[in-house]
Amino acid sequence: MAPEKLTAKLSLPGGKEASLPVIVGTEDEHAIDIRALRNDTGYITLDSGYMNTGSTQSAITYLDGEAGILRYRGYAIEDLAEHSDFAETSYLLINGKLPTKAERSAFSTALTRHSLIHEDMHHFFLGYPPTSHPMAVLSAMVTSLSAYYPDSLDRNAPVDLHITRVLSKVRTIAAFSYKKSIGQPIIYPKNSLKYGENFLHMMFAVPSEDYVVSPVIAKALNQLLILHADHEQNCSTSTVRMVGSSGANLYAAIAGGILALWGPLHGGANQAVIEMLEHIRNHGGDYKKFIDDVKNKRDNRRLMGFGHRVYKNYDPRAKILKKMCDEVLAHLGIKDPLLDLAKGMEEIALKDEYFVSKKLYPNVDFYSGIIYRAMGIPTNMFTVMFALGRLPGWIAHWKEMVEDKDTKIARPRQIYTGEKARKFLPVEQR
Ligand code: CMC
Repeated sequence: MAPEKLTAKLSLPGGKEASLPVIVGTEDEHAIDIRALRNDTGYITLDSGYMNTGSTQSAITYLDGEAGILRYRGYAIEDLAEHSDFAETSYLLINGKLPTKAERSAFSTALTRHSLIHEDMHHFFLGYPPTSHPMAVLSAMVTSLSAYYPDSLDRNAPVDLHITRVLSKVRTIAAFSYKKSIGQPIIYPKNSLKYGENFLHMMFAVPSEDYVVSPVIAKALNQLLILHADHEQNCSTSTVRMVGSSGANLYAAIAGGILALWGPLHGGANQAVIEMLEHIRNHGGDYKKFIDDVKNKRDNRRLMGFGHRVYKNYDPRAKILKKMCDEVLAHLGIKDPLLDLAKGMEEIALKDEYFVSKKLYPNVDFYSGIIYRAMGIPTNMFTVMFALGRLPGWIAHWKEMVEDKDTKIARPRQIYTGEKARKFLPVEQR
């Protein structure tokens, strides 16, 4: 039996009424379809920050912020973090199903084979000052990839190879930009290593010594990347879709996503959390006073790593990360005073009326920075790590968008609040 067609009624000033179809998702989420609204009534809707606006229908990720649920293609994030690896999860996000053994092996081989970047691109790294933020370098390098693969500009050309390339090469670029920033020789990828291990090798090996990847660190990295792999229509993913909706190539769209991720309210928050904790430690460690400043909005302070636009309950990713943080630090024998500070702050905030009433809980960035620090990854690389993890999500959304026949160039409207028409006066008369 066909499902009942639901409609919503909208009463407009002047007695006009609009009848709007209601769309229901697989998890019973309801949306009012306003696509015909302006044509039928002359009205648009206004929704700053898109708090109530669905920009697309998507089959990739399901997120219930009230219940703290996150699933990629129907699989619980907890299961994927425990049982999958990053390459397999990337395949799942991009292709919509878990790979068979043969598909998994072919995908991993393709990622391995495409890990090198064109030798000419190495010169680009030399042009940046050593103090450059690696996100600046990463975004520019990803855009530059389109110059080396000009067929990506053809909207009708096959995309699979470009998807493999970007997924594999961003990892190499990220590690190379780190090596350049510390003045060490770049380390080429090693085909015998898996995705995460290969990244750690390029980051931490030096030509003069053997480097053995710790299995505990490799597992933690794998889980971190999986936990970041997608988060439906967040700021950077929406940017990828928006850039891509104009027909711009995959590399351009991903570079757009990287830039949107950079901000401290989004992926830059993991760096901001560590900077906040260091600031508190360097000023005597009085975190209760810091929380008080946050509550009183002194200097516009926020408890970084807390709060989320859609999670109004504990972020399920933060739960996994808090446990991982203890395990990784114990394995490495590290006692990080910043972790004690973070735990102390979390304990207070979870009981404090300010945070409870605003439904502010730790998000994915609260503990991830402490784990990256323990792994030896410098603070200004944290957002690059987020970008590396988010890549398959960006790619999956870009692919879904270009394959969707209903895709239109993203072009919101506005309510104009400026001057009415006025006469131009020559400069002598002003
Ligand atoms: N510390 C203190 N107060 C906060 C915080 C915070 N971290 N987050 C929100 N608030 C307050 C905010 O001041 C506002 O209060 P009031 O109603 O009195 O004006 C209220 O809570 C609602 O905040 P908002 O900024 O309107 O909420 P939003 O949904 O637009 O913002 C957010 C979501 C993530 C930008 C915000 O919670 C925030 O700035 N958090 C800190 C930065 C952070 O950790 N970002 C990482 C997000 S998770 C990774 C990712 O997916 O990007």
